[in-house]
Amino acid sequence: MTLATGRVYQGDCIKLFNEIEPGSVDLVFADPPFNIGYEYDVYHDERSDHEYLDWTKQWMAGVASALKPDGTFWLAIGDEYAAELKLVAQRECHFTCRSWVIWYYTFGVNCTRGFSRSHTHLFQFVKDPKQFTFNGDDPAIRVPSARQLVYADKRANPKGRLPDNTWILRPLDAPDSFSADEDVWYYSRVAGTFKEREGFHGCQMPEQLLGRIIRCSSNPGEIVLDPFGGSGTTLAVAKKLGRQWIGFELSKDYVEKINDRLGGTQVGEPLDGAADPLRSAPPTPVAPKTRKHRTVTFHRKKLVRE
Ligand SMILES: C[S@@+](CC[C@H](N)C(=O)[O-])C[C@H]1O[C@@H](n2cnc3c(N)ncnc32)[C@H](O)[C@@H]1O
Repeated sequence: MTLATGRVYQGDCIKLFNEIEPGSVDLVFADPPFNIGYEYDVYHDERSDHEYLDWTKQWMAGVASALKPDGTFWLAIGDEYAAELKLVAQRECHFTCRSWVIWYYTFGVNCTRGFSRSHTHLFQFVKDPKQFTFNGDDPAIRVPSARQLVYADKRANPKGRLPDNTWILRPLDAPDSFSADEDVWYYSRVAGTFKEREGFHGCQMPEQLLGRIIRCSSNPGEIVLDPFGGSGTTLAVAKKLGRQWIGFELSKDYVEKINDRLGGTQVGEPLDGAADPLRSAPPTPVAPKTRKHRTVTFHRKKLVRE
């Protein structure tokens, strides 16, 4: 059986992958539970290492089967299992890693006896290291170079440059050593004050982050699949960017809310969040009055350490 595009399917992604025609999907973006005890609606995020890795092998095998021979698999994962999951992808599922990106963000969990977490790992895997989509000339994923921004150098490529593998979207908040065109991807997390926030899912990723991934690794009309739908960010961005999309999500409640989000999302609509992190900040619905009145919901808040 082949599942239709343009729908979010409620259920276990491992089973749902069996209903996807092998070799039919162009891009999979997966942001699985990190096995850190985060409280989801129905999923229990505290398994033994063995169980978590075994489960990972199963859903990742589904990714490998669903992808076209020239397809791409992006994986978001935390520190705890980044290295292990990279090896599962390479050794068990025969993917080639093209990039290990650090998404550097602020509004992370505050630690008092350690350093506050401010990054997530993003892996770009491909099935075939010679044949895969990489739209490096798309102006929407290129960033201004230092020659353009700092030196006003006439020799600067007017098209800017490709970001390096650390992604930073708002360098105004970043340490001096980072700039937007270096190898850290900086997109702020979707904090509680941001207009973009859907409000029902604590792990909502920013649309601009998914925008870069989808623009770079797929073309309009192609199929993007997210096996861990969450708040529906991947699907909303895929729809806005004119891709076909398929989502899986275990929670019935989240599926209903994703459908609401997608119902209010139009093809061609601009992505939420600051498009140009060098010159803008994410919009907020109303300016917060005082710090006391601000609501900040932390990503994977179980990680708070005393
Ligand atoms: C980290 S969240 C994804 C967040 C998403 N990237 C976003 O931007 O909103 C992981 C999601 O996977 C879902 N999930 C957990 N196990 C699943 C499974 N076996 N099949 C499908 N979804 C699952 C959880 O309910 C949760 O919503």
